[in-house]
Amino acid sequence: MDLNKREYVKDVLNKKDNSKVIVAGWVEKVKLMGNLNFINLRDRTGVLQIVAKGFKELSKLTPESVISASGTIKKGQKKSGEKELILDNYEIINPAETPLPIDIFGDTTSIDKRINYRFLDARNPKINAIFKIRSNMFKSIVDFFSKEGFIKINTPKITAAGVESGSELFKIDYFNKKAYLSQSPQIYKQMMVAAGFERVYEIAPVFRAEKSHTTRHLTEFIGVDMEMGFIQDENSVMDVVENLIKYIIKDVKNNCSDELNLLKVNVEVPKSIPRLQIKEVKSMLKEKGKKLSDNDDLDSESEKIIGEIVKKKYKSDFVFVVNYPWDKRPFYHMKSDNDSKGTKSFDLIWNGVEIGTGAQREHRYKILKEQAKEKGIDLDKINGYVDIFKFGCPTHGGVGLGLDRMVQCLLILNNIREAILLPRDPERLTP
Ligand code: 4AD
Ligand code: MG
Repeated sequence: MDLNKREYVKDVLNKKDNSKVIVAGWVEKVKLMGNLNFINLRDRTGVLQIVAKGFKELSKLTPESVISASGTIKKGQKKSGEKELILDNYEIINPAETPLPIDIFGDTTSIDKRINYRFLDARNPKINAIFKIRSNMFKSIVDFFSKEGFIKINTPKITAAGVESGSELFKIDYFNKKAYLSQSPQIYKQMMVAAGFERVYEIAPVFRAEKSHTTRHLTEFIGVDMEMGFIQDENSVMDVVENLIKYIIKDVKNNCSDELNLLKVNVEVPKSIPRLQIKEVKSMLKEKGKKLSDNDDLDSESEKIIGEIVKKKYKSDFVFVVNYPWDKRPFYHMKSDNDSKGTKSFDLIWNGVEIGTGAQREHRYKILKEQAKEKGIDLDKINGYVDIFKFGCPTHGGVGLGLDRMVQCLLILNNIREAILLPRDPERLTP
């Protein structure tokens, strides 16, 4: 059968009666009724009923085998009048063994086992839909940044040192030298602002040697990082992040309505995202019985509570928490103007989960050196980082967002592993 002439099920279902077509896909079901047999054929666009008059050997056709089929389109017998294919001929491209190792369409298989057989699991249209939406989110992000004049950069993932916490670095053997997998493109995106690109972004893997067994941590995730020059302050960055979030949700709503319906997810474009001082947030938490000191970070429990409070009080799924304590932020965050214990930083929380961290960066060479010293970091050891601020660097700031967490939050998935095809966590290196 000529696969170059193969058409998608979705298109075939809209064809006029008596059209001759070739389709191909997976056998979802075979119904044997003697002389009149039926195959439900699934491809990535839908399911088509094939009516096979005769073809007794279909009894040997196993579920999930891949076939091609040719025939004539006819209005079906069902009330819906959905078109069917009257089979002329079929070919088995690849038969499936039985039994299948997982129940693709049931919901009893553990996530762990499903990921072991992701190539089967993702044949479930609901699982497939998650990744179609993820793909669209990726496209929306690229569209948005291009529209806003950001330049896409690619930065090294093998690095000599990190700028975030040292404990999260994966060591690798690099021709007898010490090297690490990149835990953030932080240095490089700042470097490229200074290089005159002014606005840059990258969507790329980020590696974190965190031995966390939670529903929101991976050891390899996709970071959506941006950095922009000539900002007034951290609010300039939050304005862009807010527009990005609105753009993604609007675009997904427009392009993925079938997938969202299938997953029974109703998404709303936020009107505006409240920006709350961390001090204010901590006093709200205190009212809920969660006490945190001025220097504390927000833990995941606090983020969850804040998510609930904001939903009630501001009718918002999102909140920016701003002005995190200097104690808990990396050395490159700019300190607040009138408060050396605060920083011009923010986290973005979506339904109680942190999806992004950003800040205005310290671009003044002398002050940056002092801040590094205060944190016990030897700046000379961070290859080339200091130089960025010696030869003309604008005010700048940016954000790092986690794509996997954004997919998780948008689709209200209870585990981040549902949002990524082949997750990496402390226990998992395969498939
Ligand atoms: O909050 P993080 O660590 O911030 C940075 O990397 C900064 N350099 C960003 C900046 O521009 N200042 O990471 C950013 C985001 C988090 O908010 C979260 O969404 C995601 O990356 N993330 C993870 N996602 C999955 N698994 C993990 N272990 C993650 N760690 C961070
Ligand atoms: Mg963070």
